Amino acid sequence: MSTSSETDHRPIPATAPRSVSAPAAERHGAAYGAALTDTALAEHAADVLRLNDMGGWTKAAPLLYPHQWSWDSAFVAIGWAQVDVRRAMTEQQRLFEAQWRSGMVPQIVFNPDAGPESYFPDPARWACELSPEAPIGIAETSGLCQPPVHAIAVRRILEVARELGGAELADVRARLVDLFPKLLAWHRYLAENRDPDGTGLVTTYHPWEGIDNSPRWDAVLARLEVGAVPPYTRRDVQHVADAGQRPTNEHYDRFLWLLELLKRHRYDDAEIHLHYPFLVKDVFLTAVLVTANTALREIAEFVGASDEDKALIDLWRDRGRKGIASTVDARSGMTYDLDMTTGAPIEVATFAGMSPLIDGGFDAAQRATSLALFDSPAFAGHPDLRWRMLPSTSPESEVFDPRNYWRGPVWPIVNWLYWQGLRDGGDVERAEELRTVSLDALRTVGFAEYFDPMTGEPLGSAMQSWTAAVALDWLAS
Ligand code: SER
Repeated sequence: MSTSSETDHRPIPATAPRSVSAPAAERHGAAYGAALTDTALAEHAADVLRLNDMGGWTKAAPLLYPHQWSWDSAFVAIGWAQVDVRRAMTEQQRLFEAQWRSGMVPQIVFNPDAGPESYFPDPARWACELSPEAPIGIAETSGLCQPPVHAIAVRRILEVARELGGAELADVRARLVDLFPKLLAWHRYLAENRDPDGTGLVTTYHPWEGIDNSPRWDAVLARLEVGAVPPYTRRDVQHVADAGQRPTNEHYDRFLWLLELLKRHRYDDAEIHLHYPFLVKDVFLTAVLVTANTALREIAEFVGASDEDKALIDLWRDRGRKGIASTVDARSGMTYDLDMTTGAPIEVATFAGMSPLIDGGFDAAQRATSLALFDSPAFAGHPDLRWRMLPSTSPESEVFDPRNYWRGPVWPIVNWLYWQGLRDGGDVERAEELRTVSLDALRTVGFAEYFDPMTGEPLGSAMQSWTAAVALDWLAS
């Protein structure tokens, strides 16, 4: 596969043989377009999963992300559920094999066969063996985590398995009994190690915990005193046509300085909470955890978990809702992250400002405020948008950049989370409209990692697994 194929956003033609070994470059050719049928779109999406399938786990993208990423893998499982429900369960089981003793599910599980030059930072730079919690001898991982979409994915797998019934359901049930305690330990890690004061809000340590170069982190990153970072070569910009679609070198230096500090603290959560300069109470991560706890509660019921476990999940969910309510800005109605170093809210207009919508069970009045913001000209109602979808940063913000990673582009997976929350919260018509326009967008854009909200130009990696996965789920819903 040539490097240029990674950003060749033309689709796999419907007539191409769907062999997983076919080089991606040969699989391009036809133009996506509004006329693509649902069946053809689903076939293309399933092809992307097969192309990135490593046998039991799925690469996030062919070249840019050659390993298993935590939240990518959860979305990918949601996609696999529509193709092969057992394969979907395997995706999550494989990820959880690399779970840390602390319960943390690592951001990246490295593919030992990919080689050190395939991605940076590599396992040597992470040096996770510094932590007694790391899964030494089991898997090489990074030392951070990402939003906990996993229970949401597993609930979706269970739903599909229930529709199929029979042997499929029996298989999923048996594997869920094994996975449930691991999911519970993961949520416990977030509720306790990442929230030692029980505020209900999850602390994030690093932009790589999900929303990389979002302007939400700019002020915290800007005040870091960056020390000596060992030399490094960025691999990401070798795979994306235009470096302007990726974080800047200045951001990378800061990301890597934080990594050096995390290693000094041996990835110890208690120590990090005391002595580390990037501590942010993250409203988006928290909202995902609330919804994931709702999903986990349903899974708990299915596997016959103890009353004690069920009460604990309820407690975490309710505490998360209260935590999010405490972040609502009285003037704007937005939810803002909290900078734990200054104690001040981070007042930046991004998709995270409507986080109560992600959770269908959030207070109805606040959801109405969030929905009005969602559809306002500051976000999905902006008159210049190609589709009425949520951009990562407000087009009205002065830092909005429609082509740069998390600083403006639309990310389909984020829209999927909002779609689910709208639907579960009873905003069924708005949810349906979001699903329909999202599918229209993907028919035209293809399975890009992200795209320009104004022009619809596909950006970042082509054949991004999680984009294909949410298309499959939207098509089935
Ligand atoms: N998204 C990050 C990257 O760009 C890592 O999670 O590599």
